[in-house]
Amino acid sequence: MTDTQDNNTTISKTLYERIGGEGAVNASVDLFYRKVLNDYRINRFFDNSDMDKQIAKQKAFFTMTFGGPNNYTGGDMRDAHARLVKMGLDNSHFDAVMEHLGTALVEG
Ligand code: HEM
Repeated sequence: MTDTQDNNTTISKTLYERIGGEGAVNASVDLFYRKVLNDYRINRFFDNSDMDKQIAKQKAFFTMTFGGPNNYTGGDMRDAHARLVKMGLDNSHFDAVMEHLGTALVEG
């Protein structure tokens, strides 16, 4: 295969495939929530959450947004987080979550 074909093959793959598919998403999301639940800045938002369900929904959500199979059955983002805004959710919490997501995707 030539270099050009290699590049074309890479470009036509979804992000989901390129990061390693189901195994990579599962490992990253598990690691992501371990980091989130260990972070005092944000873990209170998950006090009343069923984390097994949340982890399953997040795996389905990322799988969908990364271009994998669409099995996401949760709500839209604004509705899902409206109750958290009432609890004081702001940009600092979003940044903390993004920090954990970034490292989890690299490490997971
Ligand atoms: C890009 C950023 C984010 C994405 C993609 C995301 C994704 C999701 C998804 C897919 C759900 C499930 C929705 C449903 O059940 O209908 C959810 C729920 C939730 N998210 Fe997020 N989220 C993000 C940011 C945050 C932040 C910043 C926090 C708080 C620090 C947070 C806390 C929660 C909580 C507590 C729930 C509800 C869990 C429950 O049902 O008890 N999320 N999020």
